[in-house]
Amino acid sequence: MSSGASFYITTPIFYPSDVPHIGHGYTEVAADVLARWHRQAGDDTWLLTGTDEHGQKMLRTASANDMTPREWADRLVESSWLPLLDTLDIANDDFIRTTQERHETSAAAFLQKLYDTGFIYTGDYEGFYCVGCEEYKQPSELVAGVGPFEGERVCAIHSKPVELLHERNYFFRMSEFQERLLALYEERPDFVQPESARNEVVSFVKQGLADLSISRSSFDWGIQIPWDPQHVVYVWFDALLNYITAIGYGQDEANFERRWPGIQLVGKDILRFHAVIWPAMLMAAGLDVPKHVFAHGWLLVGGEKMSKSKLTGIAPNQITDVFGSDAFRYYFMRAITFGQDGSFSWEDLSARYQAELANGFGNLASRVVAMITRYFDGVVPQSGALQPADEAIRATVAAAARDADAAIERFAIHEAIGAIWTVVEELNGYITEQEPWVLAKQPENRERLGTVLYTAAEGLRALAVLLSPVIPKSTAKLWTSLGAPGALADQPIRTAGDWGQLPAGSAVSPLEALFPRIEQEAGVGAAR
Ligand code: MSP
Repeated sequence: MSSGASFYITTPIFYPSDVPHIGHGYTEVAADVLARWHRQAGDDTWLLTGTDEHGQKMLRTASANDMTPREWADRLVESSWLPLLDTLDIANDDFIRTTQERHETSAAAFLQKLYDTGFIYTGDYEGFYCVGCEEYKQPSELVAGVGPFEGERVCAIHSKPVELLHERNYFFRMSEFQERLLALYEERPDFVQPESARNEVVSFVKQGLADLSISRSSFDWGIQIPWDPQHVVYVWFDALLNYITAIGYGQDEANFERRWPGIQLVGKDILRFHAVIWPAMLMAAGLDVPKHVFAHGWLLVGGEKMSKSKLTGIAPNQITDVFGSDAFRYYFMRAITFGQDGSFSWEDLSARYQAELANGFGNLASRVVAMITRYFDGVVPQSGALQPADEAIRATVAAAARDADAAIERFAIHEAIGAIWTVVEELNGYITEQEPWVLAKQPENRERLGTVLYTAAEGLRALAVLLSPVIPKSTAKLWTSLGAPGALADQPIRTAGDWGQLPAGSAVSPLEALFPRIEQEAGVGAAR
């Protein structure tokens, strides 16, 4: 299934200085849902994620733990970041670590190229550096500290003091790209998404771009500058390159051509790096800029950006241990408008789990399978003549598949799920109205009973296909139980709304509860 258009999508690479929280999990799931959708649509899909292992944040955390940064990264990647992918059922195609040889070699080659073509020069810099952001801050970006930092100017994101640094280092001529970047945002209005992110970036670049300091000489944890080993590459410059080094830039040109340009999915706090610095770097190297940079919002807990450093961090497995990975994926993708901030609460998660997954979808699936088992000995019946109610279900399924695909193209994951969910709602209403249990008592209505249960089963078939990128585990169980032919992952998603793909005569098998009841005390309480 790789003959279609190239769909290469990335998550940011995460600092393995600390363990993941649900904000990181959120990005992973969103990228995975989009990738699974496109893969199932037959697009030539590649999902990349990984870890950003250089820089001062890593160095300091490692020393505070009496380890080398390499040892610290190895430990955190093995114990936390790779397991996160299992916890959330992420089907990534690759995992890059910036300490890997493939990355270091190609990143150095990229730098050398920019140096050779005159885009890099030596200069002096003095400024306030935030190690949490790994970024120099303008005085206007600092705020008054509180608590232990009262009287100091602190980073607005991390609420921690910044450090005044003075260094002689190498600079990237980013200022030269101001006009080309503005032209890019103008000509390709969907380059930066959503609209609010695009507006922010345009007004930022309009204010003028300074050159960017891209090397550091006060510590040595990083990629060496190839022509001056006293310096290491600035961690962001290094990290951004992962998106091309992972697909063979400088080493496997054929693969690079096949995948690039890709799509960068990021959190809004790191939008400027991706929508300003990154395309400028690519332009300087004569490479295509990304197809899109999409910035999602923040998960808020108690009204604030959730973060480990502010102690509001929630580990993904606190949720999945209780509700399962499908519920995690469904909840965050459905409850939050993709591109905007969203508040997390255990109450909301628990309520949606019960109402939408357990009562809405799970019950529907169990009831239909149970009725086919009971009234037709477990064999999917033939559909007879259609009545308007049956036609309406067919039309809903067709519209849901079409609308969901269009929404995914716009990165509107929440809308896609909303469109698919119309099928869950309509089918539940249809079964209540058609009362198959009443039809079953009247032998003269046998054909009608068959039509109703075929319609319901075929609706479930479409739901399994359309929801599999979001809730892969439970849809796989449903698929098996319906006795549908072939593997679920091979079902083309763009034609999932075509009616009649579930063959009459398929043998259904018992279906366990897809979303079992969760005892309030044992679940929500314990997970807090
Ligand atoms: N290492 C850099 C990214 C380099 S990409 C070339 C970095 N790492 S990070 O681990 O700090 O953050 C990675 C991502 O997690 C960012 O996209 C950030 O927005 C996201 N999130 C961190 N906290 C978050 C929330 N509370 N909510 C949603 N996403 C959040 O930045």
